[in-house]
Amino acid sequence: MRISWNQLIENIMQCDHCGLGKGCIQKVPGQGDIHAPLMLIGEGPGEQEDKQGLAFVGPAGQLLTRMLAAIQLPRERVYICNVVKCRPPGNRQPSPEEMQACIGHLRAQTALIRPKVILLLGATAVSAVLGPEYRITRCHGQWFERKGVWIIATYHPSALLRDESKKRDAWEDLKRVKAKLSELGLYQDLFEGENK
Ligand code: URA
Repeated sequence: MRISWNQLIENIMQCDHCGLGKGCIQKVPGQGDIHAPLMLIGEGPGEQEDKQGLAFVGPAGQLLTRMLAAIQLPRERVYICNVVKCRPPGNRQPSPEEMQACIGHLRAQTALIRPKVILLLGATAVSAVLGPEYRITRCHGQWFERKGVWIIATYHPSALLRDESKKRDAWEDLKRVKAKLSELGLYQDLFEGENK
């Protein structure tokens, strides 16, 4: 049975399934349009996200906003969240145990949103959603269909900030997202700007 949004947020806020909750300022469930056909999944909150309680609002988030704008997609029209809802200390990668402890929240979130397309941002999201055997370097830009949902991965915006040479691939991946949304007849609803 699907839980309600209120119940989901309550579950996240009360969660003590792993130790991350003790070390963070606040939980970051995610935000955006809860009816969005496109859901974005990152790794976990960083410093700014932990302070503000919102996903992708730091430097990586600012780049993400520009990446979405480059395909004429306003970020408030999509839903953005992370694999783990609490900031790992020092922004380290969440451990497999921490990801496992948090995966129920992500599954409940996905069941409520029922996105048509999911964009995975980086290796942690790829591992959590597609499986630990998948590598971002190999699988980015490829489509996977799981239970009627189209899933694609691209590099995490933080990785793009560290290594500019990945930006070209990320741009190709984003264009595929736009094409898929268009193919599914969702383009008119989501996009704005000259190219509509
Ligand atoms: N990196 C992430 O993976 N998620 C955020 O919300 C911010 C940075």
